[in-house]
Amino acid sequence: MRIVHWLFLVSVALFISGIGFIVAGARTAQGAEVVDAPAMTPVATVKQIMNGIVAPAATTVFDAVGTIVNADGVLEIAPKNEEEWAAVGNSAAALVESGNLLMLGDRAVDRGEWVAMSRALTSAGIEALKAAEGKDKDALLAAGSVVNTACDNCHQKYQRQ
Ligand code: HEC
Repeated sequence: MRIVHWLFLVSVALFISGIGFIVAGARTAQGAEVVDAPAMTPVATVKQIMNGIVAPAATTVFDAVGTIVNADGVLEIAPKNEEEWAAVGNSAAALVESGNLLMLGDRAVDRGEWVAMSRALTSAGIEALKAAEGKDKDALLAAGSVVNTACDNCHQKYQRQ
């Protein structure tokens, strides 16, 4: 009876130390991830990111869909083939990643609204990306307006000229 009791304790002890190992292992894995992350050095100014990445990408997304009304009638504009949809998707992806770039290093002016507005650009970009992937011109038009709002909101607060 006593031996059984003792064995039980030993197995409980082994079980607990096993958990300890798993926890320690998970910690090491997390630690390793941090150590392995390549160091990133932000170089471009916010202005360069705007002119070099954000503005051209937004123009591609904005100009991809719409309606032109003139004397000849109403002309619907939309990407016409795989390549054109892919180009819109690429630009939407550039907007998505721009949101990430704007939060990198001391580009983040603050930890509050700047971060929220950068994330808003990313999620607006994701909406445009999904529309492009689904080749859905109505969804792309709607996403374009969400992107536009994301630009305006941030400029209203942070663009000083
Ligand atoms: C998180 C904030 C933020 C978002 C989102 C944002 N911008 Fe900007 N943008 C800025 C700031 C800040 C400046 C001013 C940079 C400076 O002058 O140093 C700026 C400036 C600009 C400029 C002027 C650059 C120049 O040469 O003066 C353009 C063009 C521009 N943004 C386009 C866009 C477009 C298009 C979008 C949306 C697709 C967008 N931005 C979204 C913060 C933002």
